[in-house]
Order: sequence, then structure tokens, then C-alpha cells
Amino acid sequence: MDEMVEILNKIDDVLNCQRCELARSRTNVVVGDGPIDAEIMIIGEAPGRNEDKHGKPFVGSAGKILNEVLEKNGIKREKVYITNIVKCRPPKNRAPKAGEVEACHPYLKKQIEIISPKLIVLLGKTAGETFLDRSVSLGDEHGKIFEHNGIPVLLAYHPAAIIYNRKLKDSLIEDMKKVSELIC
Ligand code: URA
Repeated sequence: MDEMVEILNKIDDVLNCQRCELARSRTNVVVGDGPIDAEIMIIGEAPGRNEDKHGKPFVGSAGKILNEVLEKNGIKREKVYITNIVKCRPPKNRAPKAGEVEACHPYLKKQIEIISPKLIVLLGKTAGETFLDRSVSLGDEHGKIFEHNGIPVLLAYHPAAIIYNRKLKDSLIEDMKKVSELIC
């Protein structure tokens, strides 16, 4: 069994989790992907259709953009731990509800504790607001580094936003450059 799944099973039977209503519509619980001693952790919002189907984060069109942005900055995806705020796909890819974020949070908290990353990258508004516990304006705050329980967290646009607005791609590339400068 995947080492992270084994650890999260101590909280609950993660692959059969019933902690919120997303359990009813999901195909797979998307726990995360990457080494558990990663220095960089990337946190998105929630699995989409492809992630739900394959049980892995960022394997669809947003994942392709993420891969490209990482590669452009010389960051190897296989060295990064990638997960989401919620581990199950919300119906029609709606944003996760507050209760779903809360129900899933013990898993994410444990993942951060285990990985103990040097830097967390928060992709998009949901991840940003969950960690900063306030409303976030990515237009004003992307590329900024905050702190969460002693760990630096970088706010960045979600790669899916780039599908709708290609101009944001340069910002995401620039923001990820900070990751490589800080860590690599
Ligand atoms: N969007 C996310 O936030 N996470 C994924 O895993 C895929 C798309």
C-alpha cells in the first residue's frame, strides 16, 4: 500500500472515506502524488474528471499546464508532493463547500506534518483562502509569500485559470520561478 495512504488510514479509511457528501459522487479518492520527503508541496483545489478517473492529482488539462510551468523552471514534478484541499471531485467541478474542506482537512494537515515541506505552493483561491483563513485576491496577491505554522506558503494562480485567460500563464511561470530560487 502507498505509504501516505497507510499513514492517512490512521485518521480514517481514506480510500473509502465517507466524511462528506463528495463520497457519493466520486470514483476515486485522490490522496496525492509524490515523495513523502519532498521539499516542495503543491496544493490545488480538488480533483477534476480525469483525476477522479485515474486517482492521481493534476493529470488532466490543468496538470499539463502545471507540468509545463514546473519544467520551464527546472522543477522536477516527481520531486514535488502534489495534492488538493479536498481529495474527492465535487460534482460538475464546483468549488468545494466549507463543510467539505473542513471534513477533509485532517488528511491535509497530516500530509503536511509528514512531508514537512520547506515551501508550500497554493494554487488558486480555494487553497489560498483555506490556508490564510481570509478572502484572497489573486490579482493582488499572487507571487507573495506568507507563513502557515512556520512554513512559507506561496500564492499562485491555479493552472485551470490559464485555460480561460492565457495571459496569466506568464504570472504563474514567474511565481514558480520563486520556488526554484528558494528551493532548487
Ligand atoms: N484541479 C485541481 O485543483 N486539482 C487537480 O488535481 C486537478 C485540477
